[in-house]
Amino acid sequence: MKTIYSTVRGASMKYVKIEWESELDTGIGVIDRQHREFIRLVNTLLDSSIKSEDNEIILDSFSFLRYYIVEHFSMEESAMRAYDYPQYGMHKNIHDSFRKEIEGMDMALKMNKSPHETAIKLNYVIVNWFVNHIKVEDHRLCKFLEARAAEKHEVLSDKLNTIVSSFFRSSPAFSTLQ
Ligand SMILES: [Fe+2]
Repeated sequence: MKTIYSTVRGASMKYVKIEWESELDTGIGVIDRQHREFIRLVNTLLDSSIKSEDNEIILDSFSFLRYYIVEHFSMEESAMRAYDYPQYGMHKNIHDSFRKEIEGMDMALKMNKSPHETAIKLNYVIVNWFVNHIKVEDHRLCKFLEARAAEKHEVLSDKLNTIVSSFFRSSPAFSTLQ
């Protein structure tokens, strides 16, 4: 992770930019590709929040990110149900609390609050929440999925691709992620 400083209206603000690191790899291609895309979208939003005073531009990149998160979480939850993941409830609760954070940030942006404030909040959430979530809960889930698929003599990537194809339908921009 790289720390960057930006001067906004004379005040120096500190952001942490996420860069992909091998510790984030779960070993499951489709999930890793989606996590990488998520981080790319977060960094894009962070850049536009720093550079732009225009809430519309920020709102657009935020909407895209929000849609992406909702679809990605739903896809993971669908995979958990398909393989009877014993920690489904706990993992879903964690997703739900992140969904709420995102809804809160969406409201803050729509109420025309400072985009820089939202950028800082998002930065905090990502650094303190999402990266740890991938490293802990998603890694645990992915190990389970691999083991369960092997037990059932199923090809995990095929199964996940089938699940993914039922999500990310409404936007052609996501077709490359499956
Ligand atoms: Fe997750």
